Amino acid sequence: MNLNDEINKRKTFAIISHPDAGKTTMTEKLLLFGQQIRSAGTVKGKKSGKFATSDWMEIEKQRGISVTSSVMNFSYQGYYVNILDTPGHEDFSEDTYRTLTAVDSVIMIIDATKGIEAQTIKLFKVCKMRGIPIFTFINKLDREGRDPFELLEQIEEVLEIETYPMNWPAGMGKRFLGIFDRYQEQFVRFKGNEEEELIPYDTLDHEQYHDLTKQATYQETEEELALLDEAGDPFSMERVLKGEQTPVFFGSALAPFGVETFFKTFVEMAPNPKPRKTTDALIQPEHEAFSGYIFKIQANMNPAHRDRIAFLRVCSGRFERGMTVKLTRNEKTIKLNQTQQFVASARETVEVAYPGDIIGIYDPGYYRIGDTLTDGKELIQYDELPQFPPDLFKRVTAKNVMKAKQFKKGLEQLVQEGAIQLFTGHPYESLILGAVGELQYQVFEHRMKHEYNVEVSLESIGERIPRWLDEETVDVNLFDDRNMLVKDREGQFLVLFKNQFALNWFADKHKEVRLIDLFDVN
Ligand code: G4P
Repeated sequence: MNLNDEINKRKTFAIISHPDAGKTTMTEKLLLFGQQIRSAGTVKGKKSGKFATSDWMEIEKQRGISVTSSVMNFSYQGYYVNILDTPGHEDFSEDTYRTLTAVDSVIMIIDATKGIEAQTIKLFKVCKMRGIPIFTFINKLDREGRDPFELLEQIEEVLEIETYPMNWPAGMGKRFLGIFDRYQEQFVRFKGNEEEELIPYDTLDHEQYHDLTKQATYQETEEELALLDEAGDPFSMERVLKGEQTPVFFGSALAPFGVETFFKTFVEMAPNPKPRKTTDALIQPEHEAFSGYIFKIQANMNPAHRDRIAFLRVCSGRFERGMTVKLTRNEKTIKLNQTQQFVASARETVEVAYPGDIIGIYDPGYYRIGDTLTDGKELIQYDELPQFPPDLFKRVTAKNVMKAKQFKKGLEQLVQEGAIQLFTGHPYESLILGAVGELQYQVFEHRMKHEYNVEVSLESIGERIPRWLDEETVDVNLFDDRNMLVKDREGQFLVLFKNQFALNWFADKHKEVRLIDLFDVN
């Protein structure tokens, strides 16, 4: 098979959601379709006591969650699917953001009973800023949820994106009859534990329900559909691919109901691997020469071996195990023998990989996040991964001053690896860590102790709103203790505002100062 065919088969995406919205249940159903697992419950671990096989680290085991995003892949309907798992909420870390740089689309799962929740907004901002197409699945239709129109309105308002309902529910909870599949023009009838029934629109008997309540629900839904046809935005694939419109599917991951129709449509519509920007060009996936970049480095995936794995997204050409590659940053030549792909149940050696695929490479300490690897014939450097603004800050010191050397080494390495961000106070040079989730601190503490033999003290500064300063517009002496002034690793000044009020107050008082929100500039 040639390179083009392989690229056209690839669908690389992440599933994002608020915890408990149903991401694990959905992932499990997709793996069942891909025949990667035989029964439900294999991926899930939280409450059943079984651990998901993607839970590598000790902390993951203790908490029964996936700290770091894992990757799953399988064939489905002639496509080759790569799912990048992302943790959410308190288990959120910069890895979650970085993972989104390695996907071509995302599936956003929303709980119909709750609507959009805070964490979804953060993840969404990253998708938006990167123009990633978003497919929405509104889950738990078997429960009494919020009004579907209301849910759409909320998505449009909060996330500033157009919605296009690909299907529409007839009732919810106890009154749930099924969904009208507007795309395939069929009614999918919900039959409880039995398999769903597909009835094409042209053979649909509109007087089908003898039960009057059911018939009323059905008719109400037909009216809603007419309203949607008339007043809704038209479907536009072009807008979907630009991240300006999200196709919305309703269903239940648990039942499961509407999941297969959703996934079939998703794999058809979701974009193939896209070209990637380097510092001075755009590299097409069809480009013959192999290239890729590292978006994540994970240590200690296997506690017995203490190995590190660098996750690489293949961007162009064909990867073969054993090939010699060049690391652009230092022009080091490396033979890649130990490469892995990740399936639900195990790591497997990968022999070949194509654009869109994610491979894990053994890292003896060579790599950094954002590194580019090529086949060595031409040296290119993919654009730096954006720096994501942290919002939880803590002062860090070593508990035992005698361990200053190990402390410094561990801190330096973990920061370089992208596990956590480091800032220095100004004018007093205290060390301040920044993270996007509490879990990053737990991982940091754990790794400092187990890998560098240093116990650390963390003193919370709390949640802050960081704004970088355009130094040409500001005198750093303006800042008092209430709003902390710190420097990032590049020596750029930023202010850690205590809250939105403090930020607004400052911005108002010092209109001449340009404050930069990294979410806006990336
Ligand atoms: P997450 O990965 O996004 O955190 O969510 P997860 O799939 O673990 O689902 C969270 C809870 O919601 C689970 O229940 C799950 O069974 C339930 N759920 C998922 N999809 C649906 C759905 O379509 N309908 C309904 N009614 N429930 C759904 P739990 O009680 O927290 O866990 P468990 O005891 O069932 O494992």
